[in-house]
Amino acid sequence: MRKTIWSATVALCSLFAVSCGSGSDNNSGSGSATTTTTGTDAGSSTGTTEATAGTNPKGVGPISEVKLNNPLDQKLAASGKSVYEVKCASCHKLSGEKLVGPGWKGVTTRRTPEWIMNFVMNTEEMLNKDAEAQKMLEVCMVRMPNQSLTETDARSVLEFMFSNDGKK
Ligand code: HEC
Repeated sequence: MRKTIWSATVALCSLFAVSCGSGSDNNSGSGSATTTTTGTDAGSSTGTTEATAGTNPKGVGPISEVKLNNPLDQKLAASGKSVYEVKCASCHKLSGEKLVGPGWKGVTTRRTPEWIMNFVMNTEEMLNKDAEAQKMLEVCMVRMPNQSLTETDARSVLEFMFSNDGKK
């Protein structure tokens, strides 16, 4: 299921590869930006853990478990929307359409909540180590700069993503 969605996403991404690359003057390559989380040194990993580390459905980073709200916390989703508008909308649409990065429609079904939060809070390491993140990078060719969100802000954006995907 995930594989199928991925192939579709990749195929779709390829179609927009040109538009994807066009945002590259937008901070690309600024891998040094900020790493506030985890003590793991990105460069120090040896071959031993690679096989599993790159394919963990929860990704790599500080978040090991996310408790979901059912029903959604509408206040939290609303604050996530504000974060989105200020820090994410320049690169991400809410539809499935790619801008600089992938559109967010369906992101909560193709990723685990932990993966999403780790990607947002620990972007550099995820792009260096996580297999799914690397696949996206190959297509988009722009490294998403870490937006330095607090855990609370990252959680609110996740709530907003669920809301954008139609969850109540
Ligand atoms: C400068 C452009 C840019 C900004 C700003 C940006 N992103 Fe991204 N984002 C990307 C790119 C490009 C990718 C694809 C991975 C890569 O190539 O680095 C991505 C991928 C993602 C993904 C994975 C999507 C998927 O389909 O799996 C998530 C989640 C995400 N970004 C969240 C955020 C959040 C949350 C913010 C705001 C706080 C944000 N991004 C701001 C460029 C950006």
